Amino acid sequence: MLVKGKVFVVTGGASGLGAETATHLVGLGGKVIMVDMNHELGTEMQHRLGEHSEFVKLDVTDESAVEQFYKNVAEKYGQLNGLINCAGIGPSAKVLGKNGIHDLAAFQKVLNINVTGTFNMLRFAADLISKYELKSGEEERGVIVNTASVAAYDGQIGQTAYSASKGAVVAMTLPLARELAQHAIRVMTIAPGIMETPMLKGLPEKVQEALGAMVPFPPRLAKPEEFAHLVGHIMENAYLNGEVIRLDGAIRMQPK
Ligand SMILES: NC(=O)c1ccc[n+]([C@@H]2O[C@H](COP(=O)([O-])OP(=O)(O)OC[C@H]3O[C@@H](n4cnc5c(N)ncnc54)[C@H](O)[C@@H]3O)[C@@H](O)[C@H]2O)c1
Repeated sequence: MLVKGKVFVVTGGASGLGAETATHLVGLGGKVIMVDMNHELGTEMQHRLGEHSEFVKLDVTDESAVEQFYKNVAEKYGQLNGLINCAGIGPSAKVLGKNGIHDLAAFQKVLNINVTGTFNMLRFAADLISKYELKSGEEERGVIVNTASVAAYDGQIGQTAYSASKGAVVAMTLPLARELAQHAIRVMTIAPGIMETPMLKGLPEKVQEALGAMVPFPPRLAKPEEFAHLVGHIMENAYLNGEVIRLDGAIRMQPK
């Protein structure tokens, strides 16, 4: 699918991987609606990207707000061709930690944002994308890209909730791709390794360096642009479907 002239929703678009993806898709000629809870950063992004972008403050887990959001997208843009789900949180806590047993509400919060939020956004997106009228020469209506993590496969100590959430995102990829095939919609998931985003930049520099050195090649953190370029490629390569791509420099995370 050519990005130029197409309409995309990017969740978590105010920061990190989502912000870089929005920037890349606008650069390729797409129209991008960024959604995020962070109003300040989101508005900044909209100013930076200009007229082919829009920022909407939205909680991806809010059922009625998300439904209304897509009604507005349909009215304003008349079409949707892609959703890139980057909104997510990555806290860590041990099941048997220093301060006691893992809080159940904390576990549920991670699942709610990372899994339910992803699903809530994609179900309405699939509906709107399925209504896109194919033009002559076009073979696909749109593409949904979800963001998992290598923690879905090699989660570290303290990542039980996060790994469970990302494992769910990985697992939904194939059934979604199979079901949405009849609507000419593809579904892909990217499982990033250690990315240089605000989520990671909050860590002390020494820890960041040590994390980078653990990567076989290249021995550094991944750049958000590398994620954004992969999203761009997925959009353009119609044969990528129902698969999870690790974007991780061959890292396999150790227990801690
Ligand atoms: N940074 C990494 O190393 C890394 C590695 C693997 C996977 N990931 C995943 O990539 C995705 C993006 O991470 P990032 O590093 O860009 O993080 P980030 O913190 O820079 O961006 C995440 C964004 O999601 C938004 N968000 C959180 N909850 C939301 C909600 N309920 N509704 C709407 N927006 C919400 C936040 O406001 C934030 O702007 C996440 O799903 C994360 O789990 C990141």
